Amino acid sequence: MEQTLVLVKPDGVQRGLVGEIITRLERRGLKLNGLKLMQMTRELAEAHYAAHVGKAFYAGLVEYITSGPIVAMVWEGKDAIAIVRKTMGATNAGAAEPGTIRGDFAVEIGRNLVHGSDGAESAAREVGLFFGDDGLVSWERATDRWIRE
Ligand code: RTP
Ligand code: MG
Repeated sequence: MEQTLVLVKPDGVQRGLVGEIITRLERRGLKLNGLKLMQMTRELAEAHYAAHVGKAFYAGLVEYITSGPIVAMVWEGKDAIAIVRKTMGATNAGAAEPGTIRGDFAVEIGRNLVHGSDGAESAAREVGLFFGDDGLVSWERATDRWIRE
């Protein structure tokens, strides 16, 4: 089953939106495999955002993501990567559709509340970075048959 890494970024934690964001992913029908509150180190931020090294926003991005605690999660389900990205809304929160997390709670790209892996390769890499080989729980959910045919 597909897994994806989701982060509630420091602005989401500071603004008390952890529960709201988890609720939206739970209600959507995705299944939680792992969850932790943590402070990202600069090393982890640089590894996580390695693809953005050299971009104008990179330094500010590392500063932002390490500026306070985050909540790291792994969510599972068929097409979980794309479903999470749709549920989050556009990266530039000011242009995100109402009904999405960013479109309902954020107004700009630099404070866009959440991260979701953008593809299968980055999901595998990011889940490994944040959770290593253990720390994830695979479980049967009684409601699964009411969520998927
Ligand atoms: P994320 O990785 O956080 O899920 O967001 P994303 O895939 O939608 O966006 P990505 O292109 O990977 O950019 C990573 C994060 O960098 C910040 N950013 N700022 N000021 C800017 O022009 C700019 N561009 C990107 C955002 O916080 C974005 O989520
Ligand atoms: Mg990204």
